[in-house]
Amino acid sequence: MTDTPTPWIHRCLLGLQELSAEDIRTVLYTARSFAEVSGRSVKKVPALRGKVVANLFFEDSTRTRLSFTLAAQRLSADVIDLTETGSSVNKGETIDDTALNVEAMGVDALIVRHRASGAASLVARVVDCAVINAGDGRHEHPTQGLLDIYTLVEARLGQAPGGPALQAGSSPVSPAERERLERFDLTGLKVAIVGDIVSSRVARSNIAGLTKLGAEVICVGPTTLVPRSLESLGCRVEQDFESVLSQVDAVNMLRIQFERHGTAAKPAAANAQPEPARGSPAFPSIREYVQSYALTPERATRLRDDAIVMHPGPMNRGIEIADEVADGPRSVILRQVTNGLAVRMAALYLCVGVSERQEATRLAASVRQLSNTTFGS
Ligand code: CP
Repeated sequence: MTDTPTPWIHRCLLGLQELSAEDIRTVLYTARSFAEVSGRSVKKVPALRGKVVANLFFEDSTRTRLSFTLAAQRLSADVIDLTETGSSVNKGETIDDTALNVEAMGVDALIVRHRASGAASLVARVVDCAVINAGDGRHEHPTQGLLDIYTLVEARLGQAPGGPALQAGSSPVSPAERERLERFDLTGLKVAIVGDIVSSRVARSNIAGLTKLGAEVICVGPTTLVPRSLESLGCRVEQDFESVLSQVDAVNMLRIQFERHGTAAKPAAANAQPEPARGSPAFPSIREYVQSYALTPERATRLRDDAIVMHPGPMNRGIEIADEVADGPRSVILRQVTNGLAVRMAALYLCVGVSERQEATRLAASVRQLSNTTFGS
């Protein structure tokens, strides 16, 4: 393993399950280069000047959508936006017809978020431009997985990988571990992913990415949300959160996705009084879920001194995570958001580059075919 990136060959980024460890490292190395751009006074590079990126978001998003928009703008691309509300999807147009029509306007990359698993892959099959999965149902959210890994490495190093220190003396690592982490080799690290894993595309991308890079992943929660069958993805399954706390380098707390449990009721914080009728068939009550699986200030004291707290957002404050922990000194939740920008710049840059090379090859082939037809071979 070297820190020279393996050449990127993928027109699309649809999931981390289908990438090799070296592919994943290539995106992370590229993100490291782009993170430096965000520290400049002029936060823009001409890498995608003249290119057009289209956001196709058929499900709500704050972080992913804004961060892809900003990432494309920082690469000097033009950005257009389509959301389900106000689009012809509401008149019955299919997602592949929508994608083909947007591509026909000369778009170079489609960023796709959809509530259905497999939606981004469906789009990738019908268009020739780059496609990046921005979250499809319960399947994958690859750029979230990548930014989580990047943030974990940054926190262990106490600095942006390859960059200046964030806080003096904040790194707990030995020289050997530093050398491994600089190569995004996560051997020896343990990460707990806690909560609604059965509903979570973030969990699937994290499990794939972390284990491919050498980390151990422990999925924690009640069997209704964390079934034993998840072990087939290469992680360990544990119901007892208490027993895991002192073992891990990071806890990644996941939102309870009430909207995917067939209960439309909006959740409220566990300490809100009185508790209205709401919840999930996956556990008896929110209060009981909080008792066993919330990251409370008391539980956080049982984490190792150097362990970090992550959350992909949006958070159900007072349910899976307490305010004091979300906003406390171990939290890297806002660093995750910051690092998402560099990771998405990397994903766009790499995938559009491949798409452009494939388009050039296609053009060259049609010119050859045309000249053979016209002049004979
Ligand atoms: N983490 C994440 O995907 O957040 P958004 O839904 O706000 O994009």
